[in-house]
Amino acid sequence: MMTTTIAHTRPKTLVELLAMVQPDMEQVEARMRETSLAENEALHHAIDYLITAGGKRVRPAMTLLAGHMLGAPRGPIAYLGAALEMLHTASLVHDDLIDGALLRRGQATLNTQWNASATVLAGDFLFGRAADLAAQTDNVAVMRSFARTLMTMVNGELNQMFNGRGHPTRDGYFQRIFGKTGSLFVTAAEGPAFLSGATPAVATAMATYGREVGIAFQIMDDILDFTADASHLGKPVGSDLRQGLFTLPALLYLEDRPDDPNVAALLDGRAGDPALVAHVVDSVRASGAIQGALDEARTYVARGVAALSIAPDNEYRQALVDLAIAFVTRDL
Ligand code: IPE
Ligand code: IPE
Ligand code: MG
Ligand code: MG
Repeated sequence: MMTTTIAHTRPKTLVELLAMVQPDMEQVEARMRETSLAENEALHHAIDYLITAGGKRVRPAMTLLAGHMLGAPRGPIAYLGAALEMLHTASLVHDDLIDGALLRRGQATLNTQWNASATVLAGDFLFGRAADLAAQTDNVAVMRSFARTLMTMVNGELNQMFNGRGHPTRDGYFQRIFGKTGSLFVTAAEGPAFLSGATPAVATAMATYGREVGIAFQIMDDILDFTADASHLGKPVGSDLRQGLFTLPALLYLEDRPDDPNVAALLDGRAGDPALVAHVVDSVRASGAIQGALDEARTYVARGVAALSIAPDNEYRQALVDLAIAFVTRDL
């Protein structure tokens, strides 16, 4: 009897995608632990603590999959992946200090153990280390992309700080999340194009993929701030509203229920009231705003995936499609 194999079309999960690049990811981890300088002992332990805490490693995963898809040399790609994860880690050290967050990746943040000055300096050191790793690629286009991303991220954080509170707008929101998150994914996706000598058209398509999918990733992070629980997520939840920050779920809720007095109270600066914040979190969760935000995230994924059409058609291109899908189906 003839048997036919049914092609399975289920997208790969993040765990399966990471398995596709496991040996390369080990190189990324090794590069992150390389020290080119005699570090202060406390600093050395702190960096070790931060790297060992893990994290999903989605930025280097994107870089490695894109590198394989485009046939980029593996050594420089591992350095780029390490540079981006280090840049991300540095930004989290500063973000947690700014937010006063106590928990990250399921463990106590550096700012709970060190004073603010030392925490700022540790973050600065990690930014330097990230740049040093990026320079190991010996590629000026990569270095420029890295530097622009760092500037864009800091600018995005400042926009959030100065303009993010008060009466929120969609435009402001999308600009901010591109700055603080999308820009890093641009470098994760376009860097491998530079390292493989791909055409400018392919590099631009990769940048579009990184930007759109990165924005979707941050929308999902903003959704999880409403829907997840801290022990599963490994970081605080409800923290955006507590900081008076209206992310997409809250914005959509506000568009639908402009007269909700609790939201008005939050906008009037009562974000310091925990009962009020909990009440609004519940209202947003119970409304259609979560689904609405998810739909918008999926639109970004679709746009990012469409940009891949000019990239080489191989199993790694499919993996990048699946990675984008995993970004909006994840629960942590
Ligand atoms: C958290 O990023 C900060 C955002 C940009 C949303 P991740 O969700 O990638 O955090 P880790 O690295 O897995 O801890
Ligand atoms: C991302 O945004 C922060 C950085 C890019 C540094 P969030 O502030 O939402 O990140 P989490 O939720 O604290 O991880
Ligand atoms: Mg934060
Ligand atoms: Mg968040």
